[in-house]
Amino acid sequence: APEDNTGSLKEQLAKVFEVSIKVTVPDESQVVPIIAPCSKKESGDYQCNNAMSLWSKIKGKGTEFKGPQPVGQAIMRNLPASDMIESCSVAGPGFINVKLSTQWIAKSIQKMLIDGIDTWAPKLPVKRAVVDFSSPNIAKEMHVGHLRSTIIGDTLARMLEYSKVDVLRRNHVGDWGTQFGMLIEFLFEKFPDGEVNDQDIGELEVFYKASKQRFDGDKEFKETAQQAVVRLQGGEEKYRKAWAQICEISRRGFEQVYRRLGVHLEEKGESFYNPYIPGTLDLLRQKGLIKNEAQAIKFKEGQVIKIEGAKVEKNKEDLVIKIERGQVITIEGAKVIKNEGAKVVKIEGARVIKTEEGEVIKNEKGEVIKNEEGKVIKVEEGQVIKIEGAQVIETEGGQVIEIEGAQVIEIEGKDIPLIVVKKDGGYNYASTDLAALWYRLNEEKAEWIIYLTDVGQREHFEMFFAAAKLAGWLPTDKNKYPKTSHVGFGLVLGDDKKRFRTRSTEVVKLVDLLDEAKRRCKEALEERGKAAQWTPEELEQTSEAIGYGAVKYADLKNNRLTNYTFNFDQMLNDKGNTAVYLLYAHARICSIIRKSGKDIEELKREGQLKLERDEERKLGLHLLQFPEAVKEACTNLLPNVLCEYLYDLSEKFTSFYSECQVVGSAEERSRLLLCEATAVVMRKCFYLLGITPVYKI
Ligand code: ARG
Repeated sequence: APEDNTGSLKEQLAKVFEVSIKVTVPDESQVVPIIAPCSKKESGDYQCNNAMSLWSKIKGKGTEFKGPQPVGQAIMRNLPASDMIESCSVAGPGFINVKLSTQWIAKSIQKMLIDGIDTWAPKLPVKRAVVDFSSPNIAKEMHVGHLRSTIIGDTLARMLEYSKVDVLRRNHVGDWGTQFGMLIEFLFEKFPDGEVNDQDIGELEVFYKASKQRFDGDKEFKETAQQAVVRLQGGEEKYRKAWAQICEISRRGFEQVYRRLGVHLEEKGESFYNPYIPGTLDLLRQKGLIKNEAQAIKFKEGQVIKIEGAKVEKNKEDLVIKIERGQVITIEGAKVIKNEGAKVVKIEGARVIKTEEGEVIKNEKGEVIKNEEGKVIKVEEGQVIKIEGAQVIETEGGQVIEIEGAQVIEIEGKDIPLIVVKKDGGYNYASTDLAALWYRLNEEKAEWIIYLTDVGQREHFEMFFAAAKLAGWLPTDKNKYPKTSHVGFGLVLGDDKKRFRTRSTEVVKLVDLLDEAKRRCKEALEERGKAAQWTPEELEQTSEAIGYGAVKYADLKNNRLTNYTFNFDQMLNDKGNTAVYLLYAHARICSIIRKSGKDIEELKREGQLKLERDEERKLGLHLLQFPEAVKEACTNLLPNVLCEYLYDLSEKFTSFYSECQVVGSAEERSRLLLCEATAVVMRKCFYLLGITPVYKI
């Protein structure tokens, strides 16, 4: 049979081993070959690890084998003839080590050079995916968290697209929140004739803050603002117009960032899904999933609860507990809070109450303790505290839950129910996401839906994914499709290891940040005399490519779950694992090829790639592992895997180049092909990471 030479190296090897395993142990038909890179590089390139588990399955069933090692030996003997494999050996309890044929490696690389790198695209089991990323909120700041979402999301979308998945790049813009009521009302107040132009609104964020101040301080204004939301959502012309105008101004701001980053997105904001919410909730209601009120709410140790409108509380012993409106209480060790009609709250095992100011009021062994005002607070395990008028609870993640009169979905194993209809009948973030999920599954026929937000929203996603499973929209087996994935990422920190902010404690403006990266790169290039050698456009484009690339790469190279420290000096260093270093490395390879004066297209067809020296073979093997790296990065949604691959590639090239002379050597033709292949793979990596390559430096 002709060899099937598609798929990653690992997959191609798996196919060969599958044939042999079937012959060796015909009774065990459903065996998936376990192929991994060799743990000891001296023993070979890859190993097959099936012998041990096969042995444990067949022993005692009258097999002729006498242990795992002979099983491994037999699998090795039964391997079909393959161009891929040079030699095999069995080690220890049956590991089959494979040394790949160097000639085959060389041939495969040359084939890629002729047919193009797209022939190395990994195969994925999905046809269509939604990547929901960036998704800033109208009128609010687009902060560095949104920058991370944009950068990581774009890379994942690019990797999926490369793998021939049809990707719907969705900007789930927050354009339907309650913030619009106060914004629009504020707008009408300032411009009673309704004649507003862009300049008037200008800096939307400043406008937003001012209207928020009014909202918080003025009861009357608050009421009109709340009515404005109803009128807007009811479709009243004047309100829709103002809303559309506000959205448009925000959108232009977002576009500035996207243009600089070279990111393309299609906006389908929260408002788009609004008409689908009632139908979606009906489906859930039909399944009996929506209940009218939360019955039992559990809080985790250390969780912060904000109680608005709480007045005076007395416990069993008639001791007064005074909790002021808006005060934050931390209940450590609290387990269950029963919410009977949102009036009675039962706190089990409550010990410590922390006020907003951080003052700790201890109540460990049931001792009498005092609060700020010197009043006595005593909360014993199992005691009932009555909180009158308590309505809003804010969790640590900042999510506001209004319990009284809300319609909720209770999810097993979750402490807080998922609220899908607020007490005023309005919809929220969760109901919108449920409708969006329904739409993406049923109207858009997406098989994989990927969401990018900071890890703080993990709970929200887990909750509505669980609700969708309860409704039967998603299979419970998480390896089956359709599938949803929440790609969470950590915070961006400043040098002080705190949340990244500028001195004025304002959130950093994204555009400024990108401009600054570019400015610094330009300066560095000018210092190296490039202003004299290059045209102004070249200087501009190169500074942009390096500057923006550096910001992206600094973000992508980390495991996304960890927080990362934003530091210009580090990301713009031309040594170490930075985009600057990698882009320079690529430019240097291009210059080697240019300086040779050889026609690379002629070489691809007429030349012959040979990997004689050890460094050449190592580089060649690494090139061939590119599809594996993309596949892993894509399947596990971890762009840092591709960054590691790229950095490794550049290091392997450096070793090759320091050992092997290229231009002017007897092996020049072959080595130029190896240089070209490295440059091609590097460029594909850059492309997938959203970085523009530079060709000269
Ligand atoms: N607008 C949200 C925020 O800024 C992110 C939306 C993420 N996508 C989603 N489908 N919930 O936090």
